[in-house]
Amino acid sequence: MQVEPDPQRVSPLTPAHYFSPEVHALEQQRVFRRFWIFAGFTSLLREDDAFVTRRIGDVPIVIQNFGGRLKAFENICAHRQMALQWNFAGRRPLVCRYHGWGYDVSGQAQVPQADTLYAFAPEQRGKVRLREIALAQVGGFVFVNLSETPHALQEQFEPAFLEGLKDVSSHFDSEIIHTRVAAAYNWKLGFENVIDANHVPYLHESTFARNLPAPRPAPRARGRPSLRDLSWHQASRFAELKPADWRDRIAPYGDEPLYHNWFVYPNVNFVSVGGYSFALQQFNPIAADRTEILLMLFLATRRDALDFSPAVLWHNLQAEKRVLDEDIGALERLQAGLHAGARPAILGAHESRVAALLEWHAGLLR
Ligand code: FES
Ligand SMILES: [Fe+2]
Repeated sequence: MQVEPDPQRVSPLTPAHYFSPEVHALEQQRVFRRFWIFAGFTSLLREDDAFVTRRIGDVPIVIQNFGGRLKAFENICAHRQMALQWNFAGRRPLVCRYHGWGYDVSGQAQVPQADTLYAFAPEQRGKVRLREIALAQVGGFVFVNLSETPHALQEQFEPAFLEGLKDVSSHFDSEIIHTRVAAAYNWKLGFENVIDANHVPYLHESTFARNLPAPRPAPRARGRPSLRDLSWHQASRFAELKPADWRDRIAPYGDEPLYHNWFVYPNVNFVSVGGYSFALQQFNPIAADRTEILLMLFLATRRDALDFSPAVLWHNLQAEKRVLDEDIGALERLQAGLHAGARPAILGAHESRVAALLEWHAGLLR
């Protein structure tokens, strides 16, 4: 006998939502140019002239420290469209490498040889500026919003959630290790997968699952999903937290060693292992079937000298990457099988967090 699934529980997203270039283009408008998107940590931007470059959807941006003020601009020179900053992070004034145009805190261009080489009229000169992008700091987290009229941060995130981010970020160490990994699947699968704790005991049986508590059923969602419900924090006790001697040197976040998860809509998962170390994963869409995963890892503030911290960070990165590779190996296979005639996913009653996300996206893309 074939059991027909309850239509309520069939995903409202079709396979095409995961491979169609048209949907990918629509998401640039309705997701990545509309919502606040995590873009970096202030610990990378502490010094004057420090910068971070990112791609938010298909828009390259630079976040730059101008004498203590953080500003975000499109990372495209007003002259002939060269990228202004080239590295992921660094320290350098906002000056174009191509012909030397510099930019001040307001994004206005300082053009060398403006009179001779370019013969720009004085009134013309004042108008040459970069496109500024809205930026918001939540403790050590930096968010940007590409919209011309961005909604308030509190419309997207609960005040208590924002307070939580602020609180945890006061425990961040400034040393960060990062890597970017290319994966052949749709970015939405990446975010759905981190929300879906039920895959952990199966897919990560030999790595991650050993240390973690068994997944708990998520509460049933009521009514239509709201934007603020799509980001939340959860903390659970470890089945086993393997001891590590470097933890004695760390002042951990929280009163007891919990496994923390912050899900930051639309594309970030931020975790803390016991309050001692932190890891962020962000799923950035490159094409309908291509995602760049940014991994950033750091520790909580040190209690005393920890001169072997690079070794700890490197070890943590390897461990995180092994788990990520298991996810990528699975999700690339999932993506490869999607085709126009494939059936949509089916969700159980307790997969309500994933269901809410899918419903929300279906609403955005209608
Ligand atoms: S493109 Fe930037 S100075 Fe020419
Ligand atoms: Fe996973």
